[in-house]
Amino acid sequence: MSTKVADNVYSVGVVDWNVRSFHGNTFITKNGATYNSYLVCDKETALIDVVHKGFEEEFIHNISTIMEPEKIKHVILNHLEPDHSGSIEYVAKVCKNAKFYGTAKLKEGLNKYYNLDIEINIVKTGDSIKLGDNTLTFIEVPMIHWPDSMITYCQEKKILFSNDAFGQHIASNKIFTDEIDQGVLEKETKKYYANILWPLGNIIDRKLNDIIKMNLDISIIAPSHGMIWRKEPTKIIEQYLSWAKNTTANKAVIVYETMWGSTEKMARAIVEGLTSQNIEVKLFDIASTDFSELAYEMLDAKAFIIGSSTHDNEMLSYIAGFLHFLKGMKPKNRIAIAFGSYGWAGGAVKEIAEMLTSFGVEVVDKVDVKFKPNKDEVQKCYDIAVSFAQKLK
Ligand code: FEO
Repeated sequence: MSTKVADNVYSVGVVDWNVRSFHGNTFITKNGATYNSYLVCDKETALIDVVHKGFEEEFIHNISTIMEPEKIKHVILNHLEPDHSGSIEYVAKVCKNAKFYGTAKLKEGLNKYYNLDIEINIVKTGDSIKLGDNTLTFIEVPMIHWPDSMITYCQEKKILFSNDAFGQHIASNKIFTDEIDQGVLEKETKKYYANILWPLGNIIDRKLNDIIKMNLDISIIAPSHGMIWRKEPTKIIEQYLSWAKNTTANKAVIVYETMWGSTEKMARAIVEGLTSQNIEVKLFDIASTDFSELAYEMLDAKAFIIGSSTHDNEMLSYIAGFLHFLKGMKPKNRIAIAFGSYGWAGGAVKEIAEMLTSFGVEVVDKVDVKFKPNKDEVQKCYDIAVSFAQKLK
């Protein structure tokens, strides 16, 4: 499939309809994904980004619907990660008359990942190539999403080819954000940021402000995953700046793991207490929830409420794994409650509190209960939640 993006600019990437697990198992992609690539046709034609391994023939077919791939003069590699470079060995053989471009760090990584007999022309911020009527200018954006990353701007078309930035994991035969269900778009845009970019907020904030200072005229933002932003494209930049600042809402996310239902009973009492104070609450049993969904929910939640039963003096293993995952997100400006039940001796609540504190989350309260919570202990969980709610308002 190839689709016109603007005059002489085409989307020629591929749709991965069936992918359900991305980045190892860290990102569950219920709606599939795309690996976008773009052709800018001119006297000399440029291909911007290549696609995931396994889609080579479909990719070259898509290009062939517009032009002979052998006639491509320039291949721009905005990012090394294999979802964008996996087909490079194949592409290099087909586009045998092309010059290849990327950052120094891309070149270093590309030679480690692949057996290539091509020269990578190293580019830096401000470098550009003239295609004819159109010019492509490169802007390094290290850590959005890897150290090698860059974006490519076409001044004449007012298109920012943003690679990972502003993407979403959505499989569709449509290519523009205004052509699909807006609820799906909103959720997948936020889920993508939460799972791919959340830990990198400081860098994103700085880099996006650098780009804003360049006063680029942008009509279209064309990422390398998902839909293209052509309607009010700067709004997604504003949204990214807000997420990058760790802006939160008065919302609590409760995540727990329970052995015999006691920790779950405590969690439900906490829900009741927060609800009585009009706090938005989401409750998840970690045993039946994927981590990437939790990252989506927690990105803008001021409160993390984490519970576990104690097993052999430790928190349970799924919740331990989840806290390890959450630590990697480097959340800022959050408050927490640690809670849980135990049989012989405690341990989980102390461990949860220590783990949260170790990565900068302020643990405001802790509550543990022996065996099954009785009426008074359920009330205590409720009261702690009511008191905690005052700190959220
Ligand atoms: Fe879509 Fe960082 O790769």
